[in-house]
Amino acid sequence: MSITIKNESEISKMRIAGKLAAEVLEMIEPFVIPGVTTNELDQICHDYIVNEQQAIPAPLNYRGFPKSICTSTNYTICHGIPNDKRLKKGDIINIDITVIKNDYHGDTSKMFCVGDISQHAKRLINITQECLMLGIEQVKPGATFGDIGHAIQKHAESHRYSIVREFCGHGIGKNFHEDPHVMHFGKTGEGEVIEVGMIFTIEPMVNIGKRHIKVLKDGWTAITKDRSLSAQFEHTILVTPEGNEILTLRQEER
Ligand code: MF3
Ligand code: CO
Ligand code: CO
Repeated sequence: MSITIKNESEISKMRIAGKLAAEVLEMIEPFVIPGVTTNELDQICHDYIVNEQQAIPAPLNYRGFPKSICTSTNYTICHGIPNDKRLKKGDIINIDITVIKNDYHGDTSKMFCVGDISQHAKRLINITQECLMLGIEQVKPGATFGDIGHAIQKHAESHRYSIVREFCGHGIGKNFHEDPHVMHFGKTGEGEVIEVGMIFTIEPMVNIGKRHIKVLKDGWTAITKDRSLSAQFEHTILVTPEGNEILTLRQEER
């Protein structure tokens, strides 16, 4: 496989898919409160994507994934499966939304705080979001994927956090996951050169403790081996002649 360059018509469809994915995260915000179950959040997102957006929730049945969204709480790193457990005050949760509209994918995630959360959880969330934005700042024609990874790793490690290595960002388009693998660690100037028309996600996972992961017996849920808190943010990015365009930008980020 190799990295595809999207044409104008594909880019228009990716803009639409990205916007829809971002709008699901905006829609779900008021529902993320103490007492709600992640299955309820899954159902609300599923119905919104299918009925309001006339789109498809990409995770559902993707390689056997059983739900329409990923919900990863506290020490879950990513790919958490919605269930009947209730969220409680002080929890942190990543909700990861991927929609398919007119055959193209938009993929984005953010952290939500359930009621008041601890200062150390807040700090983790802030630094993780900064990692994503610093990674995005590197995206321009002529830069390399190593530049993105380096910027992210440097920021996380300078706060004595660790970067998960087993999961990466990815090219995205007609397929959920395409080339390249976008690493969240690396060295400046290494890796492939970034070109106009590429579209890929950046989605750093940052742990308070060590970087090591464990995948639960369900085959999906990835947790920190030391059960330290983990956070993640994700955007879908288009490379433009000037730099980049975030296809999944939310109102709150404008
Ligand atoms: N949305 C995730 C990503 O950012 C992938 C989830 S795969 C699933 O790449 F099957 F769990 F949905
Ligand atoms: Co992704
Ligand atoms: Co995602």
